[in-house]
This record gives sequence, structure tokens and C-alpha cells, in this order.
Amino acid sequence: MTGVQNSQATPEVRGLQAPTYDAPDLKLPSHEGPQFDAIMVGAGFAMFGSPEGPWNMARRAEVKLGPRLKVHAVIDPNEPRARACLDEKAKVFVRDSYKDTVILPNLAAYADKVKAGAAPVPKAVFVASPPQFRGGLESHTDLEVQINKFFPDSAIFVEKPIATGAPWDKSVNQSKEVGAILEKQHKGVVSVGHCLRYLKSAQLLKKILEDNNLTVMATFGRYIMSYELAVKPEFWTLSKCQGPIIENGTHLADLCRYFGGDVDLDSLSAHAIEADEKLGHLVKLGFDESVIPPNERIPRVTQASWKFTNGAVGTLLHGLILHDGDYAIELEVYADGYQFILQDPYGEAKLLVRRPGSAEFEVIDTPNDDPYYNEMSNFIDAVEGGDDPRILSGWDDAAKSYEFTWAIRNASEKSSAERRQRQGVPAPSA
Ligand SMILES: NC(=O)c1ccc[n+]([C@@H]2O[C@H](COP(=O)([O-])OP(=O)(O)OC[C@H]3O[C@@H](n4cnc5c(N)ncnc54)[C@H](O)[C@@H]3O)[C@@H](O)[C@H]2O)c1
Repeated sequence: MTGVQNSQATPEVRGLQAPTYDAPDLKLPSHEGPQFDAIMVGAGFAMFGSPEGPWNMARRAEVKLGPRLKVHAVIDPNEPRARACLDEKAKVFVRDSYKDTVILPNLAAYADKVKAGAAPVPKAVFVASPPQFRGGLESHTDLEVQINKFFPDSAIFVEKPIATGAPWDKSVNQSKEVGAILEKQHKGVVSVGHCLRYLKSAQLLKKILEDNNLTVMATFGRYIMSYELAVKPEFWTLSKCQGPIIENGTHLADLCRYFGGDVDLDSLSAHAIEADEKLGHLVKLGFDESVIPPNERIPRVTQASWKFTNGAVGTLLHGLILHDGDYAIELEVYADGYQFILQDPYGEAKLLVRRPGSAEFEVIDTPNDDPYYNEMSNFIDAVEGGDDPRILSGWDDAAKSYEFTWAIRNASEKSSAERRQRQGVPAPSA
């Protein structure tokens, strides 16, 4: 999910929630071991959670590491917001993990403390700042380069998407250059939060493909948001989050790539229902969109289709359509003789499998699966040599997903511009 939900929304309308784990006696084998020194960048929804959805990076680190977690700093220019989040931490079962946490405006301030001997080099840097401020090479986007400069051995766990910058080609190229720097110089583990790859159902699907030596022939992804709950103006402003495919549809675009492989970007075509079209009028917006200039308003529905480089075909439908309750998300994957349907990844995730010899689906439930915990657990295991150290989304691969989502946006904008020209409709004003 995206962290675009309304903090006023009714919590029970969401599916999966971040685990509370506030039992003071929670003990896991992974709680045994040395202190785990960490810093956290970005004190927003993705890092510290919101009542509406399951994301909450800090909570998963707390559960995995228990009292071993030691958060030395929260880096966020919004001090009051970070302070409010830390105040809440006095209530969690690992409250001592945050006992001495300081709030700093930037990474350099923490590096200064380390240089002065007042703080340790972090074993891991958890990053959930807005992607406009990372994933690049400019002074306001070069966070990962800075992490590498100050702490070349520290592991990095960074939220998706790896960047959201414009113009698109500069941003995509820079994100790849960051990847090259990390690949060449950085010694710590790097993991990107494309969490849906860590679903048990996604891993089961992957295993069936591998066990049966299957080649995917088609993927069809559907990610329909309940838009009433999405009120963060940045999300609805094109130049901020760069549109719903890059910020949100990336989850499923990435999952299509996970099963279908690399995308032939030149094959891609896409269409959108734009905000200025009759069908683009949404009746239940949870905020005042009139403050956003017409040419900055985001498309409501985007449908893209493409060829994968191995010849398979893919389709993605992303929409701001539903009102209440959970998002409607489903991924279909096809291979010769097989149909897979991965359902409800943030709720009661399950995998439906139809195999050769039967028209019936085998339904594989994965109760209480938490992809956010799984990705955090794997990350910590990768850092410490634990049981399951598989990183399913590294930087370079995530950069390809970022490029893919930009290609979808570019294709849909091109077809919208062509339609306007055909119909003699002017482009929305600034
Ligand atoms: N995987 C998921 O399901 C999921 C869910 C929610 C958000 N996300 C991702 O997490 C990221 C953050 O989203 P969010 O909803 O938490 O945003 P948010 O706006 O709620 O929080 C971002 C925080 O970062 C701070 N910040 C701004 N500039 C900063 C900088 N230069 N350095 C450090 N902190 C800075 C802000 O003050 C704010 O407190 C986005 O990339 C989003 O796509 C992923």
C-alpha cells in the first residue's frame, strides 16, 4: 500500500493491520544476540504506521529484534512529527530501544555524532522518507550515496519506489547510477521494500513455476484503490509523487516483473481516464482537489499492456475507483496448462492454482501472512547471517521496476495527448 490513507478513516475497514505485539513477554529466538544499532530516516506512515493499514517498518524491526533493537536516531526535518512518534514508543514492549533516540534533521548530523564518538556506526539504516528526497544524485536526493559515504558497511532497507523525480529520464538514469555506486562501493546489504514479493502466496507461486519448469506466458494485474481514504495531497499531485502508477501501482508492476521477467519497454502501450474527463469526476474525494492545478491532477484509471522480453504478455489495471473498505487487488499468472490467481495480498492472502488434468482450483490459504514482517525478517537475517537471508528486491532490480512505471506513465500521457488532439480538447491548464 502507499501510506496515502486518511488518518480519520475507520480502522476496521482495512484488512491486514500491523501487529501490535505489545505483550511485554513476547520472546522470539531472534531476540537473542548482540545489540542491533539502527537509525531511521523518515518518521511518517511507512516508518511508524497509521491506523488504516499494515505498513509500519519500525514495528516489524521491533518484533524481529526485540530488545536487541537500539534506535540511535530518527532523521526527519519535521521534528514535532518525529517527536510524536517517539512519544508513542514509550508504550511498546521494546520501549528501551528508543530510550536514547535523538531526532536529527539530516544524515550528516548523525555522521558528525559518530565522528565525535557520541554515537555508533549503525548496523542498519531504515529509510522511509518520501522518494522525492532519495534515489538520486542531486544534493536533495543523494541519500543513499551519503549513506555509502558515511557508513559504507551499514545495511540499507529502503521503501519503494526507490525514487520519484523528474524529468523521468534523468531520474531513472540517476537511480541506476546510484545502483552502480552501491554495487561497486557499498559493503552492506541493500533491500528495497517491494513487500508483495515476500508474500507466502507469491513465494508458493514462484516455487510451483520453478518445480514444474514453467515459463510464464501472461500476467494480468489489477490494483484498485479505495480512493476515499487517500487524502495526502502529494499523492494527488503529479509533480510530487509522479502519479499513481509510480507511487502505488509499482507494487503490482513489480510483481508482474517478478514473475514475467524484464519488460520490453518499447512494446508498451497505455491508456488512462484523466482527471479532466467526464469519467474522471470522482464523487467521494476525501480532500479538496481544487487546490491542485488542473494540469497537476492525477489520472483515475490507467491500463497498460506490454510484451516481456521473453515474449510473454502483461497487462496492468490500476484505478482510483472504490470508496470503502479494502483495495481490490489480484494478480493472475498463466503458464502452459496452469492458471494462478494471487488474491487479497493485504488481507486474507491466498493462491488459487489450476493445473493440467483438472478444471478445479486448488485454494491455498496463507492465514496471517505478513509480507512486511517477512521482508524485515529476511533483511535482518541477511545482515546477521540468519535462517532466511534472501533479499527478493535489490536496488538494480527495483530501478527496473521504477523505469517500468515511468514507461507506463509516459505511454498513457502520450495516448491522452493524442486523444485530446483527435477530439480537439485542450490540455488542462496550469
Ligand atoms: N510498502 C508499503 O506498503 C508502503 C506503505 C506506505 C508508504 N510507503 C512508501 O514509504 C515512503 C514514505 O511514505 P509515507 O506514507 O510514510 O510518507 P509520509 O509523508 O507519511 O512520511 C514521510 C516522512 O519523511 C519526512 N521527510 C521529508 N523529507 C525528509 C528527508 N529529506 N529526510 C528524512 N525525512 C524526511 C517527512 O517529514 C515525513 O515525516 C514512500 O516511498 C511510500 O511509497 C510504502
